[in-house]
Amino acid sequence: MNLTSERKDQLIQACLYAQRLAYVPYSHFRVGAAVLAEDGQIYTGCNIENASFGATICAEHVAVVKAISTGNRKILALAVVTDADEYARPCGICRQVLSEFAADNFLTLALKPDASYVEKSLEDLLPDAFTPASLS
Ligand code: THU
Repeated sequence: MNLTSERKDQLIQACLYAQRLAYVPYSHFRVGAAVLAEDGQIYTGCNIENASFGATICAEHVAVVKAISTGNRKILALAVVTDADEYARPCGICRQVLSEFAADNFLTLALKPDASYVEKSLEDLLPDAFTPASLS
């Protein structure tokens, strides 16, 4: 699917806004995410940490869970940003979660804090992935 530049801008603004809502009392590392779902809506996520560190949830995971729990089954695109001065790199668990629901031609906009970005496919993020098709 072809993302219009207007849609890309909306995803970027949504993930930058979500980053401000991060709950990060332990790492102080803010991550914001926004996914475009098959229903045409944008769902945002921020990282949510926990005193029991293993209970922390990543921003991308939160955004995907919001989209899927609203009835969506396909994610068309993701925008993600962190505090680090580099293009955001989703963690391994988030890449696996995304691979479960990624639509054909799924696109990630990996942002720097200044909102410049690079585009990555699912294959870029997770080559040779174990997906639902691997079970059939
Ligand atoms: N984090 C994310 O939200 N997404 C990622 O893809 C990488 C890591 C969060 C988890 C934790 O709150 C903080 O960044 C430091 O690892």
